Amino acid sequence: MTTSSTDATWPPRLPADFTWGVSTAAYQIEGAADEDGKGASIWDTFVRRPGAVRDGHTGDVACDHYHRFDEDIALMGRLGLDAYRFSLSWPRIVPTGAGKVEPRGLDFYDRLVDALLDAGIEPTPTLFHWDLPQSLEDQGGWLNRDTAEHFAQYAAVVAERLGDRVKRWITLNEPFVHMSFGYGFGVHAPGRALLLDALPAAHHQLLGHGLATAALRNTVPGAQILISNNCTPVRLRSDARSDEDSAAASAYDALHNRLFNDPLLLGSYPDLSAYGMPDPSWAGVVRDGDLATIAAPLDGLGVNYYNPTWITAPADPAAGLPFDLAEPEEPYERTAFGWPVVPDGLTAVLTGLKARYGDALPPVWITENGCSQPAGLQDQARIDYLSGHITALARAMAQGVDVRGYFTWSLLDNFEWAEGYHQRFGLVEVDFATQQRTPRASFAWYRDLIAAQRS
Ligand code: FCB
Repeated sequence: MTTSSTDATWPPRLPADFTWGVSTAAYQIEGAADEDGKGASIWDTFVRRPGAVRDGHTGDVACDHYHRFDEDIALMGRLGLDAYRFSLSWPRIVPTGAGKVEPRGLDFYDRLVDALLDAGIEPTPTLFHWDLPQSLEDQGGWLNRDTAEHFAQYAAVVAERLGDRVKRWITLNEPFVHMSFGYGFGVHAPGRALLLDALPAAHHQLLGHGLATAALRNTVPGAQILISNNCTPVRLRSDARSDEDSAAASAYDALHNRLFNDPLLLGSYPDLSAYGMPDPSWAGVVRDGDLATIAAPLDGLGVNYYNPTWITAPADPAAGLPFDLAEPEEPYERTAFGWPVVPDGLTAVLTGLKARYGDALPPVWITENGCSQPAGLQDQARIDYLSGHITALARAMAQGVDVRGYFTWSLLDNFEWAEGYHQRFGLVEVDFATQQRTPRASFAWYRDLIAAQRS
């Protein structure tokens, strides 16, 4: 296939040591929700709230990966992956979030790591992909500063057990999405709709990241530490370029992107005055020394990219937020989720990071990118999505952005949060009635791409 561009043909030639992977998360695939001493997470609770998840789906069984990880690693082996990004379930390891450790939970990840290494695949665990122990939520969750301390203690526990074999670690997954969907709008667990009062959940997650980074470095010599941020280029509709629209776009960029990247890479928070910040409560949340903890050097920035965000000035400025989400007028192709397919948004994200952070930007890893498509094995639309985005990342690399790896979301169809099993992101189709896994056309395509990059 040749792309429409004249400056990059398919396939791009990426460096020989470029890392190819797939990405998953514990609650979305493991199942075994109540097994081997695992504690409840906020998602175990949230899925039982009537109306919270489409059709009342739950992750109780999901892909049953807890019992079928050998089969799943065999699939990864067939893809020829270099690395696998998965997440550790905090309540499987520390059932109440703090204190007593459950050895059977650690044993599971120990077996998983060994099986990956046997298959020649580098384990790349994320410590937190949204499944907070419910006991910690009962004490305020990420609104409570203590959660950051508990997170660091949990990081030390897993580092102690896995750090002899695991070198690349990701602390948090998408703290923006967890703060906004979980605490701001209540559409994800823990289902709190606090709007701007959710902001302390940003700071405490970032503080948890910083404290966990120190814990990992103490325990794991040579650890490579990343965080995965959801990054979006913020766009204006072409019919709406007033000063108010630009201000709204800038305010949205501050909340979605800079609130999370600036403290990590610059050691400061962005201008949040559009949100009435800093107000006295925020000043009480951010304490002396916190920003230095958060800005501890990173070995890589994980970027999760799905699509741009279109913003207009708020129709009702008194409603609380200084922006409205908008739809583009361009007739972009859409994924099954309805998300516009905009590969050049990935180039824009990457070159934008380089422009803003310069030498403070560590190497970048695309830790998620992929699309939901209708069920079925012939998923040319997914192949087009992935090839477009890999071309887009190659363009950013040609413009000087240091990108080291690409993990597609996802290996398997899985539990897609509030959408339940309705959105299918897998290179491998899963029949949730039988747990039968069947590789799609995109699976063979990704396998061939990886092989060609090595030849
Ligand atoms: C990301 C999440 C991931 C998955 C994809 C589709 O925001 O990190 O768990 O749900 O979206």
